[in-house]
Amino acid sequence: MIVTKKIINFRYSNDILSLRNKKYCRLQSLNQKIITKKKHELWLNKFLKTKNVMYGLFDNKKFIGYIRIEKTKKNLVSWAVSKNLWGQINFYKILKNKTKKNYIAKIKKQNKASQIVAIKAGFNFVKCYEKFLLFKK
Ligand SMILES: CC(C)(COP(=O)(O)OP(=O)(O)OC[C@H]1O[C@@H](n2cnc3c(N)ncnc32)[C@H](O)[C@@H]1OP(=O)(O)O)[C@@H](O)C(=O)NCCC(=O)NCCS
Repeated sequence: MIVTKKIINFRYSNDILSLRNKKYCRLQSLNQKIITKKKHELWLNKFLKTKNVMYGLFDNKKFIGYIRIEKTKKNLVSWAVSKNLWGQINFYKILKNKTKKNYIAKIKKQNKASQIVAIKAGFNFVKCYEKFLLFKK
């Protein structure tokens, strides 16, 4: 069973960075560059001090993904799951649970899996921008 836990400290910092730096995550991100450990730690430190929220996803205590909600950016939501679990964990149900009305997601045009997941989690397509599609719940 997949369990979600709020990330409140640096315990899973390396797991988060490692997933975020995977090629399949970078390809779907607006910033595709490899993130250094130092930059990540500065970012996480700042993130944890704001109202922003990150949920870690755990399979048998093993970190397997995250849902990030940036309250400072109009409740912008982004997410990632380890590739070995794609298609296996009904991620959309978790996303549905952790998101509320008016939350938004910016999803690249070619990122069909995330668009489907967003729609199944209750988001609707709003607008097409040059680099991404805007979805709103
Ligand atoms: C987004 C992500 C979490 C989805 O994981 P998942 O829920 O296990 O996804 P699935 O493999 O079940 O795919 C979701 C749906 O998209 C479909 N799909 C997957 N790849 C597809 C493709 N290339 N074309 C069309 N449909 C596709 C699946 O068939 C599935 O549809 P279904 O729900 O009708 O069965 C995972 O792909 C991921 O971590 N991606 C990298 C990070 C990312 O894209 N983040 C989003 C940034 S906002």
